Amino acid sequence: MDDVATRPFIPYAPKPRIKPLSQLDQLYVLARNPIESWTQAHFTLPVIAGPSLVGNVVVVNQPEFVRQFLVDNADNYRKDALQQRVLAAGTREGAGVGLLSAEGDLWKRTRRTLAPSFTPRRVATFAPVMRDRAQARVERWLKRRRGAILEIDREMTGVTYDILSATLFSDALAEDAEGFERELMRLLDVIGRVHPFDVLDLPKWVPRIGQQQARSSRKWFEAAIGRLVERRLAQGGEMPNDLLTALLNARDPETGAGLDEAEVAANLFTFIAAGHETTARALGWTLYLLSQSPEWLARCEKEADAAPDDPGQWLETMPAIRAAFEESMRLYPPVPMMSRVAIGDDRFGETEVARGSIVVAAPWLIHRHRSLWDNPDAYMPERFMPERREAIDRFAYLPFGAGPRVCIGAVFAMQEAVIVLANILRRVRLEHVGEAPRPVHRITLRPEGRLTMRMRPR
Ligand code: HEM
Repeated sequence: MDDVATRPFIPYAPKPRIKPLSQLDQLYVLARNPIESWTQAHFTLPVIAGPSLVGNVVVVNQPEFVRQFLVDNADNYRKDALQQRVLAAGTREGAGVGLLSAEGDLWKRTRRTLAPSFTPRRVATFAPVMRDRAQARVERWLKRRRGAILEIDREMTGVTYDILSATLFSDALAEDAEGFERELMRLLDVIGRVHPFDVLDLPKWVPRIGQQQARSSRKWFEAAIGRLVERRLAQGGEMPNDLLTALLNARDPETGAGLDEAEVAANLFTFIAAGHETTARALGWTLYLLSQSPEWLARCEKEADAAPDDPGQWLETMPAIRAAFEESMRLYPPVPMMSRVAIGDDRFGETEVARGSIVVAAPWLIHRHRSLWDNPDAYMPERFMPERREAIDRFAYLPFGAGPRVCIGAVFAMQEAVIVLANILRRVRLEHVGEAPRPVHRITLRPEGRLTMRMRPR
């Protein structure tokens, strides 16, 4: 029987194109919203190769090819020039390189140095602080009148920022919180756009719109990060056991060399940017999707109401909330696309990959691929409940990427998400107001405009 109450919600997504875009249209669509450029073939075929403005592009969808690309033959690929050029807008020429864009020995050294700050054990020690920050945010909402409208996207950026600051920087960011938020939003808005001049590889001195803005935000960051490091070094005594200290004390086990000042600064910037915007976007989409799925909302609320006292156990004891979040990252992956350039030739089945080609694994496509998922555009958290979770191919679902460059903050983000969601769900109910949010691909996948929700205490 067709029961309306149990019919899953199908949120808005741009319709795949029937035909590929002309090169001129590609320029426009890449700058406006890259996810609008994909065709029906990208959602149905295992591999698609062809020329584009940025050279030969090979898009891999089939899980075994994704694995070959990101894991088995990962050494054959490095982060591609376009991605580096777009990200470089956030850094000064000649400045240090953070973990996200580092390559080779620098990447290995940085990753080794920072890995101990992200083990599941270490992350579990952050749970009480995550709960306290999430609770404080909800308390602030509850001081407002019943039915107040919240800008949920901003609220989620705020709470993930508070948590990042408290856990990884021992609140050292708190003093400059407003400035950090403001400048980061400005910068992400500029660096998140694929500028046509970057696609065309025009030299850096050709001015890009928004670059002036990026330059002033960058300066602001350099000064603020400089102050942060100075304050920590001047503190004396035992330094707090956090990421900032780890960066300052980093030593290469082989050479004994530390990270230089510019590398410390670049990593601070990387972690501030990569460490909260992604999680904030995924939280916003989850709250929206739950507001449209009454049955799942009720299930998650029930789970939140029965939360054990120790928040360190929440990730493992709240399968419905976890599933609601994972399914939301399937439909709206915060990082919708990963790309690399091939150093040597390769092949995916019958498709040859020539050296210099750009290879793409796009969660936006893979997570909605017609041959990998039933009812791919529908919001169905049951797919991620423990009894069904294992049937999902590791390389058909990759919100955090895979292989050596897999997200270093994945466990941190999952624990944080469940804790923030449970705190919200047990105290308030959020109802979406306004038009259905439309996803736009800047570096992350965010709703166009504001995501507004009406809040009522439960
Ligand atoms: C829901 C939240 C998050 C999502 C979906 C996400 C997604 C990703 C993805 C897909 C990558 C791989 C990119 C590639 O292969 O090109 C990545 C890398 C990275 N992520 Fe996350 N991330 C999240 C949260 C975090 C958090 C909380 C942190 C830090 C506190 C973080 C820090 C990083 C860093 C530093 C890298 C680069 C790792 C490397 O290249 O070795 N991320 N993330």
